[in-house]
Amino acid sequence: MSSANSAISKSARAELEKTRLRLRRGLVDYYCGDALEFDEEAYAELAGRVRALEAEAPQLRDWDSPTTRVVPLTQDPFPSRAHAIPMLSLSNAYSMDELRDWETSLLRTIPGIQPTYVTELKIDGLAIALHYEQGELIAAVTRGDGTIGEEVTRNIKTIGGLPHRLAEPVTLEARGEVYYTLEDFQRVNRLREKQGEAPFKNPRNSAAGTLRMLDPGAVGLRNLNVAVHALATPSPKETDWETLAWLESLGLPVTSPVRRFGSIDDIEAYYFETMNAREGLPFQIDGIVIKVDQLALREQAGFTSKSPRWATALKFGAEQAETTLLSVHIGVGRTGMLTPIANLEPVALGGTTVARATLHNYEQIERLGLRLGDRVVLEKGGDIIPKVVRVVTDGVKRGGLKAIEPPEQCPSCGEPPVKLEGEVDFHCLNPVCPAQQFERIRHYVSRSAMDIESIGPALIEQMVAGGLIRTFAGLYSLEASQLESLERMGKKSAANVIEAIHASRTRPLGKFLHALGIRYVGEGAAQVLARHFGSLEGLRAASVEALENVNEIGAVTAKSLYDFFHDPAKLTLIDQCLANGVQPTPPEAAGAAEGETPLAGKTVVITGALSQPRPQWKERLERAGANVTGSISGKTDFLLAGENAGSKMTAANKHGVRIVDEQEMSKWMEPR
Ligand code: IVH
Repeated sequence: MSSANSAISKSARAELEKTRLRLRRGLVDYYCGDALEFDEEAYAELAGRVRALEAEAPQLRDWDSPTTRVVPLTQDPFPSRAHAIPMLSLSNAYSMDELRDWETSLLRTIPGIQPTYVTELKIDGLAIALHYEQGELIAAVTRGDGTIGEEVTRNIKTIGGLPHRLAEPVTLEARGEVYYTLEDFQRVNRLREKQGEAPFKNPRNSAAGTLRMLDPGAVGLRNLNVAVHALATPSPKETDWETLAWLESLGLPVTSPVRRFGSIDDIEAYYFETMNAREGLPFQIDGIVIKVDQLALREQAGFTSKSPRWATALKFGAEQAETTLLSVHIGVGRTGMLTPIANLEPVALGGTTVARATLHNYEQIERLGLRLGDRVVLEKGGDIIPKVVRVVTDGVKRGGLKAIEPPEQCPSCGEPPVKLEGEVDFHCLNPVCPAQQFERIRHYVSRSAMDIESIGPALIEQMVAGGLIRTFAGLYSLEASQLESLERMGKKSAANVIEAIHASRTRPLGKFLHALGIRYVGEGAAQVLARHFGSLEGLRAASVEALENVNEIGAVTAKSLYDFFHDPAKLTLIDQCLANGVQPTPPEAAGAAEGETPLAGKTVVITGALSQPRPQWKERLERAGANVTGSISGKTDFLLAGENAGSKMTAANKHGVRIVDEQEMSKWMEPR
């Protein structure tokens, strides 16, 4: 080492040691003492200095430096982890009427029984699964896509109110919400802005961002909170009420207040009371959650494909904001529907900036009495799409404002639009309208459909404009040489696109059905249909009655499906796909093609008390490619056994069938 070099490192070393020490002392003061002048800002400054010095002189890096006391670089800081029981979402109700509708369909699943209900606040935060083993907190996992989340254990452990050890050595999985108080959220944002970073849009985003920080030391200074609202593993109690009390007795920070009601009518007053008290709360809530209290009834009520039937969220009326309507343009959907869209002066609403809102149709515009240049009130409902709810008329001069006229031509192809008998919407009926073609292809390749990731909107536009394809069926006869002629498309990317298109040929049948863009057939319905009919041919041949008889498929959807499969143009499109090698994978074998789980093609029998309802297990297993049957035979591969399994256990032993518990089975279901 040269003498100059060692001189630099000498003074650098001295400063580094000093800064590290200050950083450590600060943390000790913060966590153990009462000198609270040390805060995140001071931390960031000192940590930044230590990092800079360590970067200048890497030989001075030290495993015990406060900045390296994070995860070793060789280790994935947030490894993926499968949820043994999926983390579902909740259905929503936006009024007492909708809540009563929810109860009506709930009661159908538990005939003759009036359940009691537990209510909680619906905190606007981030869902978290907390795993305790023998009383020790061993893992905290984010929701992720509901099936697989990220382990953020080190960061969760910095949350003050969360015990690392429970009062008893129990093994359980509790679920809850990680959230910021509004005050801390604003504080974090002020600091971010100071450091030149974009502020977080809402407390939920910032909680998510914080949990993914690499330095738990910094996370700890941010005052995250956690509130537990559910037990995911089997409860030793008979009701949710008692379960929550038990969790609390173990030392967990159970969400509060929890209330119990004998009927929906009794909930009404509480709902409005909470709505009024909302502003005074230190954190953001977006409604109350209503859950059946009796656990046995929950089991009986079960789940839909997305959420439990035994719980729902009663949301508060949407937040509102006022702004100016600048202009209106017309959007063309994939069905040719023309939708007027408001261009607005950007305004903050529900945590995001809104510059556009759908006006739905021209009757709606008339009903609102909307004119260009009007001041309007926007509202964001439960979903993300904002809407214009009314015009501000009081004291506003509107005399010279221009009316909004229905379109005389399709903005894409120029054809005159048509309003069909009994419908309110205008449609462009031109089957080769470029905007529709574009939207249909865009839907086809989208992630929830055929998931052809390398084809983005720009490429679709180029391909359609260049005359390479007119429909999604055209994708399958594309050649690399054709793509190479497009702008910004090299040999390599052209080959990638062709490869991605090829890979889509064997997507699961449900995805293909969704991709076809059949009216009223969303992702969920498409999967239900795929599972029910098992093949495209089966579905194609189905009568309206057969379609209506499918669980979860209503009359309108059934008719739409029938029409679709009897429309020569649509059939040509499908046949073109098939002729070019599209071969949707039938549901039984879907797991095998997609993720190669060891369950593909295996026969499984379920028995005993499991931590989630049997139909749900059945569905998960089938998704992983297994056949689920009712009784054990020589053909059975596995017995999924919960607690108190009886005669099936004996039968399994007799036939030499392997017995598997829930945890192991869940592991097998992760895609490799
Ligand atoms: S119970 C099956 N209770 O809302 C789901 N969820 O929209 C049971 N949430 O992912 C969830 N506060 O993260 C429940 N008191 C509460 C809640 C709550 C917030 C979140 C939760 C869930 C989402 C569902």
